[in-house]
Amino acid sequence: MEVLHAALTRRSIRKFLEIPIEMEKIGHMLEAAKHTPSAGNLQPWKFIIITDEDMRKKLGEACLQQHWISRAPVHIVVVAEPHKPKRFYGERGEKLYAFLECGAAIENMLLTAHEDGLGTCWVSAFEEDMLTRELGIPGNVKPVALIAIGYPDEIVSPPPKFLIENITYIESWGSSAKDFGAYYGYTSQHVQRLIKEGKLLLKKVTEKLERVK
Ligand SMILES: Cc1cc2nc3c(=O)[nH]c(=O)nc-3n(C[C@H](O)[C@H](O)[C@H](O)COP(=O)(O)O)c2cc1C
Repeated sequence: MEVLHAALTRRSIRKFLEIPIEMEKIGHMLEAAKHTPSAGNLQPWKFIIITDEDMRKKLGEACLQQHWISRAPVHIVVVAEPHKPKRFYGERGEKLYAFLECGAAIENMLLTAHEDGLGTCWVSAFEEDMLTRELGIPGNVKPVALIAIGYPDEIVSPPPKFLIENITYIESWGSSAKDFGAYYGYTSQHVQRLIKEGKLLLKKVTEKLERVK
């Protein structure tokens, strides 16, 4: 599956088949998470895999009574370690980077699960004290999300999303294109020409390097 296709077709799934998941697929998700970019490559995250039925029920409670969560056979709880980027980047690292990076890791996992035919839902509405108590999470780190994972038992239509024109400015804040397709078409001719020139240049450089070898 191409990344764009995965991003366009992934949906939050809240109904799961009562079948287990191959652990290799959880492994794929963790591999994808592991390769997420992070400032200074500090990787300020930990992941807790939960399969135990009783614990899944407790987590459903902790997630503000979202009991459907416990029917997902596997959960991954994503925990941010803000102290890591704080050491190098101060307040920005502590308050922003660690959480941004966990978010990026989550999206990597959601897309990977989707490619493997799994359904997921990113859940961040929870009683933090309850969740940390149940999972024994220490005070210096912060749970940011629980990912409910399972084989989907529902087909979800895409929810409404803003048009690109409504969420994108060009070159500076406030200057929007009325029709992004037209803007893209106009600029793409120019860009295509530059790409063609660039590729020719790359070919020449590669040939030159080949001769030097
Ligand atoms: C930070 C965050 C918190 C979320 N928390 C919940 C949640 O607690 N419960 C839930 O059912 N969905 C939750 N979601 C999923 C959103 O409801 C969902 O992404 C949104 O409705 C768009 O649907 P889509 O994921 O199918 O595009 C959360 C998503 C994000 C990014």
